[in-house]
Amino acid sequence: MSDPAQGYEQIRALVADQIQSVDGLILQELSSDVVLINQIGRYIINSGGKRLRPLLHLLAANALGYREDHHIVLAAVIEFIHTATLLHDDVVDESELRRGKDTANSVWGNAASVLVGDYLYAAAFRMMVRLKRARVMEIMAETTATIAEGEVLQLLNVNNPATSEAKYLDVIWRKTAILFSAAARLAGTLIEVPKAVEDGLAQYGMHLGIAFQLIDDALDYRADPDRLGKRLGDDLAEGKPTLPLIYAMQKAPPAEAAVIRRGIETGDRSAFAEVYKIVESTDAIAYTVARARDEAQKAIQALAPLSPSAYKDALIALAEFSVSRTH
Ligand code: IPE
Ligand code: IPE
Ligand code: MG
Ligand code: MG
Repeated sequence: MSDPAQGYEQIRALVADQIQSVDGLILQELSSDVVLINQIGRYIINSGGKRLRPLLHLLAANALGYREDHHIVLAAVIEFIHTATLLHDDVVDESELRRGKDTANSVWGNAASVLVGDYLYAAAFRMMVRLKRARVMEIMAETTATIAEGEVLQLLNVNNPATSEAKYLDVIWRKTAILFSAAARLAGTLIEVPKAVEDGLAQYGMHLGIAFQLIDDALDYRADPDRLGKRLGDDLAEGKPTLPLIYAMQKAPPAEAAVIRRGIETGDRSAFAEVYKIVESTDAIAYTVARARDEAQKAIQALAPLSPSAYKDALIALAEFSVSRTH
């Protein structure tokens, strides 16, 4: 599994037919007689995306031996919520590229993106309510509130170079990891399992999600942009104090640390080349990746209560992919 993309395809292949059912349901639930909702919804959903969160949910449900079809619905719900957060996130981050295409806000403007993002949130809850499971509603209500808190907390840190590593971690578990955690935990609500199994899945998702966002923040400085499908340097342009910068500021000589500090304060994309050089010279990317690797290891350890199966192995491989990924 040296090529991460190939490894990912192998994991997906285990539940290929179920992923296809999820995509079918997503398209069905997207249809609205309001044309713009159809247009933007299909635009972002059809432009690909790794479907990582639904995949994680399906694998977890299969690892527990679940045989009915509520996991298909929940996987679609999770992808809808993820997509809604992306529509909103690209407005807030003023991003121009997503999934290798112009962002919805670049094509249709901020107002349309925010409103269609709201529609996707509502459509997710409409689907979920049909399942008539109070526990599922409870988990997702808590999860979506936490994601919003994470995005708002992050907003408060923007342009603040004094943001600590602890504060940064507080943002990323909320804005990103909680949805991975919910995706995994929800599998444990579909079928009677010991509490230790459900909690283990939730821990797995949380650690994997933190690893995933750490790598996202590393890739923002050092990725092949064509492969990533997003523009490099968006985080600096937004004045986001992510871990590569927090670490580089600690390790660099004062004059260089000051360059990064100013870059964060002013959200200056034109400083990218200079900032990147400092990030590299302090091994800040290697540090960020090492932290992600620690989290992936914790994710794998959290799976201990699950019985052995090909699906459990795939969950382990997914934690490894979240670190080795290049997109
Ligand atoms: C992007 O998530 C947002 C983050 C939490 C970093 P993904 O990288 O899973 O996005 P898609 O769905 O594959 O486009
Ligand atoms: C992703 O935040 C988290 C959410 C969308 C809630 P980022 O801003 O770091 O993700 P990208 O880099 O735009 O995908
Ligand atoms: Mg963003
Ligand atoms: Mg990012």
